[in-house]
Amino acid sequence: MLNDLVTGKKAELTLDGKTYSLPIMEGSEGERAIDIRTLRSETGYVTIDSGYMNTGSCASNITFLDGEKGILNYRGYAIEDLAEKCSFVEVAFLLVHGSLPTGLELKKFSDLLGGFALIHEDLIHFFDHFPPYSPPMSILSSMVNTLCNFYPEMTDNPGEDIDMMSARLISKVRTIAAFSYKKSMGQPLVYPRHDYPYCANFLNMMFDSPVNPYVVNDEVVAALNKLLILHADHEQNCSTSTVRLVGSARVNLYASISAGISALWGPLHGGANQAVIEMLEEIYENGGDYKQYIDKAKDRNDPFRLVGFGHRVYKSHDPRALIIKKACESVLRSLGISADPLLDIAREIEEVVLQDPYFVERNLYPNVDFYSGIIYRAIGIPSNMFTVMFAMGRLPGWIAHWKEMWDDPNWRIGRPRQIYTGPQRRPFVSLSERD
Ligand code: ACO
Repeated sequence: MLNDLVTGKKAELTLDGKTYSLPIMEGSEGERAIDIRTLRSETGYVTIDSGYMNTGSCASNITFLDGEKGILNYRGYAIEDLAEKCSFVEVAFLLVHGSLPTGLELKKFSDLLGGFALIHEDLIHFFDHFPPYSPPMSILSSMVNTLCNFYPEMTDNPGEDIDMMSARLISKVRTIAAFSYKKSMGQPLVYPRHDYPYCANFLNMMFDSPVNPYVVNDEVVAALNKLLILHADHEQNCSTSTVRLVGSARVNLYASISAGISALWGPLHGGANQAVIEMLEEIYENGGDYKQYIDKAKDRNDPFRLVGFGHRVYKSHDPRALIIKKACESVLRSLGISADPLLDIAREIEEVVLQDPYFVERNLYPNVDFYSGIIYRAIGIPSNMFTVMFAMGRLPGWIAHWKEMWDDPNWRIGRPRQIYTGPQRRPFVSLSERD
């Protein structure tokens, strides 16, 4: 795929008096890159780019985002349209297959999701052996890795049937997530139901109980669909790059996704949605003086950051944050929550920060996580499950990227270079001669 992107244009690089001509590549939305694939073999030099701020690791036709303009498209469709008009299952199909499903395809995919919803009964015993208070992301990552022991047929020939493979994983992760919550509450497990669509089924597994049957609320289902859609992919972010890198060693899908879940766990990545609500709760419990937290975030001598602000790529606004903010208000209204002190604090922080030169100069805007936690909290999801919800949403994106990487004829194992800064080769000192 990469060779097809090479244009006739060239960049010139002069090193040690010799000039090299580097091809220029261009993507379908006009993104440009300098092709340095032969740089080291031709010049002996490597490039250094910590944090990969300027490095394209692959060509991909899954997701386009323009951080300056605040654009996010999955397979060419605007996130605003998808969030408004689709279910999460349709978007999952879109990401994995590249096109929106027809009615028949959607039914087939939904039936597969329903059919794969159970997890092996022996796998359920695993939940009993995690210590109490184990972080749900650690449980999720372990359980997903363990799936390959229970369903090895899907790892033998992993490129074969993407429908089966993706439906199995998307469905079972939902069940694992709900079961881990029930176990943490010491409540009986609620098994999946074939007659419920994806999000309603998850909510029922989470909140139904023998003494208090769960009644599906359409507004809550709609909000959950929206949240999962907004999180479903975000091109080469930390967790997706992890999935691709791990998968580049030709490890199976489960192990690759399990690594992606671990990356997502980090507070600078997916863990931020939990951190936001904890920060808002702390501000509320300390009397609501949010300005002191803003000052702390601006203090260069204080490592504290205002969680929910800033993004590596979005430098104008995060389009997902705008959609979530609107959804947040309508969910609270439909649940009859007329006032939420945390939402009030969040709104006030946003208002102040958007005027503050520190944040304006650094292009720090609310990101996707700033309001999502308020919705999750309103629908009864505990804060330690927020990042698990993010993982459920991101799963179709991870699968699509893993598959794209797997099928890429230019695939190579990911293996960056470095600049070594340690001691030069020196004589070995035997143990008896060391002081
Ligand atoms: N609060 C205060 N200052 C911040 C914040 C913040 N949330 N984010 C960035 N800054 C400042 C940095 O201190 C730095 O200031 P300096 O130039 O004076 O040194 C400048 O803005 C640039 O910050 P970087 O860390 O270089 O930006 P980077 O692109 O590497 O990081 C990140 C992006 C990790 C998201 C960062 O903005 C952050 O830590 N935000 C808070 C955590 C968060 O909300 N994460 C969720 C991201 S969305 C997602 O993963 C789904």
